Amino acid sequence: MPTTPIDQRGAWRALAAHAREIRETHLCTLFADDPERHRAYTRQAAGLTVDLSKQRWSGDSLARLLDLAREAEVPEAIQRLLGGERVNVSENRPALHTALRLPQDASLVVEGEDLVPGVHRTLEHMETMVERFHAGQWRGATGKAIRHVVNLGVGGSDLGPLMVTHALSDYRLRDVHSVEVHFASTMDGSQLADCLGRLDPEATLFVLSSKSFTTIDTLSNARTARDWLMARLEGEEGVDPELVMRQHFIGVSASPEKMAEWGIAPAHQLEFWEWVGGRYSLWGGIGLPIALVVGMKRFRELLAGAHAMDEHFRTAALADNLPVLLALAGIWNVNFLDIRAHSILPYDGRLEYFAAYLEQLEMESNGKSVTAEGREVGYSTCPVLWGQLGPNAQHAFYQLLHQGTQAVECDFIAPLRRYDEVENEATRAHLKGQHRLTLANCFAQSRLLALGDDAIDEPGERPGHKRYRGNQPSTTLLLDELTPSTLGALIALYEHKVFVQATIWGINPFDQWGVELGKQIAGETQRILESHEGLEAMDASTRALIEAAWAADANGKVAT
Ligand code: F6P
Repeated sequence: MPTTPIDQRGAWRALAAHAREIRETHLCTLFADDPERHRAYTRQAAGLTVDLSKQRWSGDSLARLLDLAREAEVPEAIQRLLGGERVNVSENRPALHTALRLPQDASLVVEGEDLVPGVHRTLEHMETMVERFHAGQWRGATGKAIRHVVNLGVGGSDLGPLMVTHALSDYRLRDVHSVEVHFASTMDGSQLADCLGRLDPEATLFVLSSKSFTTIDTLSNARTARDWLMARLEGEEGVDPELVMRQHFIGVSASPEKMAEWGIAPAHQLEFWEWVGGRYSLWGGIGLPIALVVGMKRFRELLAGAHAMDEHFRTAALADNLPVLLALAGIWNVNFLDIRAHSILPYDGRLEYFAAYLEQLEMESNGKSVTAEGREVGYSTCPVLWGQLGPNAQHAFYQLLHQGTQAVECDFIAPLRRYDEVENEATRAHLKGQHRLTLANCFAQSRLLALGDDAIDEPGERPGHKRYRGNQPSTTLLLDELTPSTLGALIALYEHKVFVQATIWGINPFDQWGVELGKQIAGETQRILESHEGLEAMDASTRALIEAAWAADANGKVAT
């Protein structure tokens, strides 16, 4: 039975009317009116503190947003997601990334099968592999121990492990045979070429990470890597090519058949399941590079932190539920205050890739304009989301945040404690000072963005170009410390936020048909580019671009 679109229902309409009343109210007024504001809008769970007091909302706004969540049946949707119902309707399957972080003694029976034993079998398989590397026992075809592992993957098969290995760099294992992890994702081969130029083929192994095992970006890199190994090891050293395939490749995919076809030895395949989406997959085999860097114990702590957030998501009341509140803040900004840009600003260099990771998680999930039932939405969905390390962004795009014409919601992310483990006392003191400086900048920026001129203690009038409008909403997310566990909780927090927003917008966050079509069209264009046939089917611009590429190819120089 068709349901009434969410924007035509009571809670949405009440919110729209309420927004008209409050939208001109400045954050300065909201703070001046309520000395308890910070306490009222701050919640904690799983080692995270989320301060939502710098959002441009009141108690009334939040109460109405919670009504909206109830009207959209968010509590029921959470149970459906976690219970393994087929919430990914366009692909008719569940989205069970949360199953990947269930503890071993748990059980999750979905359509007659308990998924937990299979999940833990894969983790144990991963552990065996990781231990072999760390013992120096994973040897290449010439007998040298593997020292370099290159992850070949793109999107979810790259960004998750890339982001987490950087974020947990302090947890790098030191007392084991050292294995350096590298990432090559771009289809043009630049990152791979850089690795091939530096690494010793005898001591290098490639992990082919691809859920589908059909992604051309990854498969092109994989072919180049295979030829490089064969030329060096088979050609120069006379090594058996089968041995090269067996000792220098691991595959991680939901398609064992395709891995086998490509030549990955069955024992060196890490399988995962169709019910895990690519951008939600770092918790299983795709996380192999993470486990290689920090070890399985820490990898399991990452899973446990995410599981703690899953449990919070499942059990906490809506009004205390961190993913729900974060989602509602976003909905409030996008749909009721017309703020359609969202910046992610971590104040910790280890979170360098966090914004890139969230760009995929949020925009590939919720960048949709058709509901799960196939109806055009009549409201905005996912905002444009981007970011960078906060301290560096201060010297790049904060000018726009402070004085530009765009309203932008910001997430400030920082660990409260850092550098306790640095052994040298003087260095520790210096680094702790740098950490305090970073926190001071983080807190000062969110304050200035919220309060504008009111945050500046400077008497007298200032000219227009020195004035700050303020009233830019933000959320501050504090981690007690950046550990595998709090990082797991932070990632899971955003995953669930995305799900809650999708539920309210009525869209399916677990497919990505827009991207699929792009892949198909690129294939057609590549055929024309390679075969020089079929150009007439192209538009005038694309024809000219292809002809320029042909001319450059023929002349060895760029045509103008
Ligand atoms: O480009 C879209 C996408 O399908 C992402 O969703 C996915 O993470 C990425 O490609 C890589 O896909 P695969 O893991 O199947 O190679």
